[in-house]
Amino acid sequence: MIKKYVYGTPIPTDAVVQTIEPAEGPVQYLSELEMDGKILFHYVMEKDDIVYGLGEAMGGINKRGRVYRSFCSDVPDQTEDKESLYGCHNFLLISGMIQVGFFVDCASEVTFDVGYTSPNMLNIKPGCGDFVLYIIEGKSAADIVKQFREMIGRSYIAPRWAFGFQQSRWSYRDEDEIRDVVRHYRDSGIPLDAVYMDIDYMDGYKDFTISQERFPDFPAFVQEMKAQGIRLVPIIDAGVKIEPGYEIYEEGKQYQFFCKGSDGSDFVAGVWPGRTHFPDFLNSQVRMWFGSKYKVLTDCGVEGFWNDMNEPAMFFTEDGIREAKEYVQSFDFATNDPGQFFQLKDKLTGLSNRQKDYESFFHNMDGVIVRHDRVHNLYGSYMTRSASDALQQLLPGKRFLLFSRASYIGSHRNGGLWTGDNQSWWSHLLLNLKMMPSLNMCGYLYSGADLGGFGCNCSRELLLRWLGLGIFTPLMRNHAAIGTRRQECYRFGDTEDFKNLISIRYSLIPYLYSEYMKACLHSEMLFRPLAFDYPSDDFARTVEDQLLLGESIMITPIYEQNAKGRYVYLPEDMLLVVFRSSSVRRYQVMKKGLHYVSAAMNEVPLFIRKNKLLPLCRTSQCTEEMDTSMFEVIAFADRGFEYSLYEDDGTTTAYDSEKNYVRFAIQETEGALAAASDKTIVKLTLY
Ligand code: NOJ
Repeated sequence: MIKKYVYGTPIPTDAVVQTIEPAEGPVQYLSELEMDGKILFHYVMEKDDIVYGLGEAMGGINKRGRVYRSFCSDVPDQTEDKESLYGCHNFLLISGMIQVGFFVDCASEVTFDVGYTSPNMLNIKPGCGDFVLYIIEGKSAADIVKQFREMIGRSYIAPRWAFGFQQSRWSYRDEDEIRDVVRHYRDSGIPLDAVYMDIDYMDGYKDFTISQERFPDFPAFVQEMKAQGIRLVPIIDAGVKIEPGYEIYEEGKQYQFFCKGSDGSDFVAGVWPGRTHFPDFLNSQVRMWFGSKYKVLTDCGVEGFWNDMNEPAMFFTEDGIREAKEYVQSFDFATNDPGQFFQLKDKLTGLSNRQKDYESFFHNMDGVIVRHDRVHNLYGSYMTRSASDALQQLLPGKRFLLFSRASYIGSHRNGGLWTGDNQSWWSHLLLNLKMMPSLNMCGYLYSGADLGGFGCNCSRELLLRWLGLGIFTPLMRNHAAIGTRRQECYRFGDTEDFKNLISIRYSLIPYLYSEYMKACLHSEMLFRPLAFDYPSDDFARTVEDQLLLGESIMITPIYEQNAKGRYVYLPEDMLLVVFRSSSVRRYQVMKKGLHYVSAAMNEVPLFIRKNKLLPLCRTSQCTEEMDTSMFEVIAFADRGFEYSLYEDDGTTTAYDSEKNYVRFAIQETEGALAAASDKTIVKLTLY
């Protein structure tokens, strides 16, 4: 049951696809207070209520105890105190004696104080008076999420090759460097499906250009890589370089397609190419125009893109620099006031992404002029839509890989997301795990973090452990920043452990892809907190470092340095499988309760739930070489049951068919259990 309440004159956000009539009468569950034309909502939480949601955000799976500010932000240093990240996903779910969901559909800032100021008080403060509030009632947390997901529409569906392992770095500068990366992977037998091209593939950081010097025959290079089972995935930035003669700049200027400053001129900000203009993605014509430019790359055979810097990130504006200069000039060296120095320092370090700059440019939303800060959270989302609408035309009937840094609910229908600039910190490995279910609640199923961490230097141990989580996330990409230690898997000495770990991923792909597709098609979560499936288990409700993944398994990644294993909580009897490679494993049946599980640095533990099975295919070097005619099955059973594996061609948009389900069964005949399937089962391991 969903109730809708409209406040003021909301700006359409593209988040909700269902038609819901506004409710009569006062808002339920929340009490509201009006202050200076703005509304403040309160909800009194019970001591044991869990608060889920908020998608891409810091903090735990349970969001209590912090303030979250929904304002798409370029956050290169994701320290624990950050209140905003790149995406804004204003969905919250209270789970306790009362289960209720809230979605604040608001194009500008919203603040959520989830028991920070006062431990039992949830305060929601939209930054303006124009928004829509949805209140969702349901019989369980899972039911509320499902209703919400149906309301916001089906999640983007990635091609199956995007479930392969992917390598990235800012930047592989030229063809030879990419060839070298691929050669190392193939020579060491570590599977790989894609290599990313960061900003240096372009000519002077100009979108939709390819450096002739470094990629002299790009279409031929794309084919050369494809012949080795490798896709190239270029980056596209939001800002368009100001350079006379550059087609995109000239056209954008001529057709008035850039965001405008208050004097009506094209707004200027400094990003990678230097001075840039921002395409006005909130305008449908601009979206069509910018999207059509992806053709430059699809014509070369490219099938995947990542959209970046689309909060939009601004390193500086001319106003900001001018003000800072004046400040520097007026600095009084004779001062005895250290406060002045700190003010100066803040002035300089605060040059990027200034609120004042976000208040100084305008969009033309198909005839309605709106100041940027009022619609800030939609910018990246509409960039994703621009790309997605165009790619559907450019690659008819075919799936493409697309994910973005900035996002707002609605963009989940058009692309996935990656969680931006994390660091090579153990705490960010854990953060990666905690974010997955929250992202799933908000519709982002194709997602993942930079494995190994983007900033700082990664150690061998951290990368191995992070891959131990990454082998389960739909986007499995190792990405690192310029200036950091080289982070490709073959850079850390003996490659055997990496080969073995990533081979586990490839044997899991049929299951992961199946569960991902089912979650997309049926508005469900791929990753779930334990409490979603074991709601009456009080201990399960407190677990923040284990997740259920699809129907059959629970994952328990190791996220601490020098750990030899970890404590796990089993909400029921389960079968522990410790993988050393796709084929080397050890098994142990474990009873409901708390256990210590040993797993060396090169091992990955997972658990199979009671009367569930896990189908595994033989590992391969890339998804194109996967053989899904034969399976090995691991089952934990004391009776007969069935499992449906979803499979399709992985490349076209013909995914919604009943024919796409393959039956696996554990059958009971004359007191004995045996496996059956239309697929060939080469081996059954049954406990
Ligand atoms: C910022 C992105 O978050 C990062 O992934 C990328 O490598 C750099 N921009 C350079 O393009």
